[in-house]
Amino acid sequence: MLDLHPHLKAILVEQNLDAITLGKQLLDGHTWICKDMKEFKELPKADLCILSYSLGEIKPFGTFLERLWNAPIDTIAIIEPGTPAGFQTILEARDLFITKHANIIAPCPHAFQCPLKGKDWCHFSARLERTKLHRLLKGGTLGYEDEKFSYLIVSKKQHPIKGDRILRHPCKGSGFVRFNLCTMDGTNQEKVVSRKDKELYRKARDAKWGDLFQKDPDH
Ligand SMILES: C[S@@+](CC[C@H](N)C(=O)[O-])C[C@H]1O[C@@H](n2cnc3c(N)ncnc32)[C@H](O)[C@@H]1O
Repeated sequence: MLDLHPHLKAILVEQNLDAITLGKQLLDGHTWICKDMKEFKELPKADLCILSYSLGEIKPFGTFLERLWNAPIDTIAIIEPGTPAGFQTILEARDLFITKHANIIAPCPHAFQCPLKGKDWCHFSARLERTKLHRLLKGGTLGYEDEKFSYLIVSKKQHPIKGDRILRHPCKGSGFVRFNLCTMDGTNQEKVVSRKDKELYRKARDAKWGDLFQKDPDH
């Protein structure tokens, strides 16, 4: 069973009744709606709308995203599989939101053209615990799995961007850390921080894939 913060009120939309039955076993006490999300005449007012592994299933989604952006919703988060196809969905959504002058909150630290477009795919990784049942169903032996995902968070509200995004696991060598960064000026750059740069090196040792890397604390 999942727990949401007691002050959170969630409205969960899913078109498949069997998925809702299962979902209710995981998260009850909230509003579940069995409906095609494109069919809402009026989208509900919300602080946050999460499209979890579903936008890629409703292509073409331009009209739906425009409606979502025009709805009384502050922030929209989209999560897709961390594959080239999932990233392509994220890129298309990002391009659309940029034409709406949305504030890009994450992962991109800028609203310029994506520097990875056509070269690589932007994705991140979250370590999930595997239960015994999970291991059995997936035929796995490890007690965890690393879920790869691509994502985008946009908002009508402004949010200061505080650094470059770390793409991929930083390479932590003896006396240096090498990063692959998406920078605030819209470039994809490799950056090496050496032990000589004491303050920055301390930060670099702790930095992880997906974090923002803040060069200058005054920014
Ligand atoms: C990959 S699953 C993800 C399920 C869940 N959202 C999650 O994050 O674990 C995609 C789900 O999207 C649902 N879906 C696809 N198109 C939909 C639509 N137009 N309206 C509502 N649900 C839809 C499917 O029924 C399916 O359960």
